[in-house]
Amino acid sequence: TQQMNIGLLGFGTVGTGVLEIVEQHQDKLAHQIGASVKVKRILVNDLHKDRGSLVTKDQLTDNIDDIINDEEIDAVVEVMGGIEDARLYMKRALESGKHVVTANKDVMALYGSELLQIANEKKCDLFYEASVAGGIPILRTIVEGLASDRITKMMGIVNGTTNYILTQMTKEGRLYDDVLKEAQALGYAEADPTADVEGLDAARKIAILGTLGFSMNLDLDDVSIRGISNVTSQDLAYSKQLGYTMKLVGIANRNDDKVEVSVQPTLVPHDHPLASVDDEFNAVYVYGEAVGETMFYGPGAGKLPTATAVVSDLVEVLKNKRLGVNGNSAIIPQFEKKLKTPEE
Ligand code: NAP
Ligand code: HSE
Repeated sequence: TQQMNIGLLGFGTVGTGVLEIVEQHQDKLAHQIGASVKVKRILVNDLHKDRGSLVTKDQLTDNIDDIINDEEIDAVVEVMGGIEDARLYMKRALESGKHVVTANKDVMALYGSELLQIANEKKCDLFYEASVAGGIPILRTIVEGLASDRITKMMGIVNGTTNYILTQMTKEGRLYDDVLKEAQALGYAEADPTADVEGLDAARKIAILGTLGFSMNLDLDDVSIRGISNVTSQDLAYSKQLGYTMKLVGIANRNDDKVEVSVQPTLVPHDHPLASVDDEFNAVYVYGEAVGETMFYGPGAGKLPTATAVVSDLVEVLKNKRLGVNGNSAIIPQFEKKLKTPEE
């Protein structure tokens, strides 16, 4: 059988999960793609770090050229995080005709349209399902599953770290700093957790959801953002007494051609379904004019849930490549118009 080769950028929480799934689900992947899959090279920062028995020395490199210039590599999976290097490496991969899968909402929220345009020109796929709500296949759902509908509102909990912190502080009475440290140890938080606790990570995800769900070119600057770093145990205790649960909620709302997008700590009534979304779990409500109300729930962060979304994208990208239909990426937004904020 044919073999298809991957260049993996990053071997941290998500990268190790991607390798595990590719190795453990070989038969299923080969069946889906029609070819076997091998992680040929892995880009890391530190070649001397102990990587256990999962990888061989030959697989590891700290030079991106070893991946970009390798003509046997069919697709690049970017799970290294950060912005400038990741953006540049994805751009180079696409320009050299390699297909790209990424979990990077930071890059997609800021430079998604630039990268998608290069992908389009090069007839390459650029898929990014794992960038929003971890293991929940929400991007495909709004773009493909609800393709015939007009989405008017999306609302949800889209950051696992802050939901973990708020849940543990509310339900177990634990301290903010302790729970944040635990969320980092569990692999939920970003390398710099400021993006999580200040609401920026959720804002990036809401910007991506709005761009795809509303077919509008939504920028991060259009999102009003407030995080949870000032929320105290006392705030949470009072909320509970009054019958509410505090959640970091992102909302994207459209009314004709006006759109409002925000992320903020929100008091959710105890009997509302979002109130029972605990720990690292995420949930996204989507309202469509025809379908009405839908809700999607699942793990929003963590090694294997996130890697599942990444490898599922990879299956589609490699299958497309084998069938010669790349460039038809379903998640390239078709913009109707530029956003108008209420002030305009
Ligand atoms: P991580 O554990 O910090 O791992 C990052 C990996 O990338 C490490 O192996 C690191 O190398 C490597 N790396 C970082 N910068 C590099 C550079 N400039 N050149 C070469 N290698 C570099 O990160 P993660 O949690 O797996 O997250 C990766 C991406 O997935 C991020 O974009 C994140 O937002 C996204 N994501 C994460 C989750 C989650 O639950 N963790 C969920 C959804 C999306 P060393 O090993 O040598 O340090
Ligand atoms: N840091 C992110 C979170 C990872 O906690 O939701 C998943 O995107």
